[in-house]
Amino acid sequence: MTAYRLHDLRQHSDILRLRTGKPVTVRFVEPDDAEALQAYFRSLSTRSRYNRFLGAISELPATQLDQFIHVGEADRFSVVAVMSIDGAETIVGEARYAFDADTDSFEFGLSIDDRWQGHGVGSALLGNLECRAAAFGATRLFGDTLRSNDAMIGLARKSGFTFTHSPGDWKLVRFEKHIAVAPQEIPCASWRLAAQQVALHASV
Ligand SMILES: CC(C)(COP(=O)(O)OP(=O)(O)OC[C@H]1O[C@@H](n2cnc3c(N)ncnc32)[C@H](O)[C@@H]1OP(=O)(O)O)[C@@H](O)C(=O)NCCC(=O)NCCS
Repeated sequence: MTAYRLHDLRQHSDILRLRTGKPVTVRFVEPDDAEALQAYFRSLSTRSRYNRFLGAISELPATQLDQFIHVGEADRFSVVAVMSIDGAETIVGEARYAFDADTDSFEFGLSIDDRWQGHGVGSALLGNLECRAAAFGATRLFGDTLRSNDAMIGLARKSGFTFTHSPGDWKLVRFEKHIAVAPQEIPCASWRLAAQQVALHASV
């Protein structure tokens, strides 16, 4: 991660297209997002929150919210997927990820607003996370979910992940995917560019 400067990363935002052509922007969380992000988590159904955080919570604990809005600390990053709804920028999904340089692994969790589930936002966001992982130079992308979480298991399967035991918790299943993409082949323009710039700096 150290190859990227956080200042540069903050400028990244990706515009994804849903099946309908509707644009969804994925951008890093900013400190100003704290209230909207908390409102987003509160608005999730009890089941979605349980699936996202692997336990019953009604909102993000203050310490965790603080970590979510301070992107890049301890190589952990939060992004939001936002759409313009009735003229207002609205959070319709979020993801949090961490890159472990020792194992070249990229771990993530994500959620989509219940009203927007089933519209392809999760697929689009996951595809974007794959680009982010590839730009870090990760060779492995993974996450853990409850065995009962059919939606996440379905999304992971459709996105080409394989499944394995999650170490230490029989209630969880781990989905993982090997990544082998050269910087110039990363299928998201902004991350391809970022990875190519890092590769260029490394070679001079
Ligand atoms: C899991 C989750 C992120 C999926 O996001 P989504 O935007 O609804 O998913 P998509 O619309 O992009 O669906 C993509 C594919 O996932 C699978 N899928 C989605 N919902 C599914 C469901 N309820 N049951 C089975 N498969 C499902 C399907 O294969 C689907 O492809 P299709 O539309 O061609 O059938 C979303 O349901 C969610 O936020 N759940 C609550 C939080 C959570 O469980 N997070 C995971 C923790 S790691």
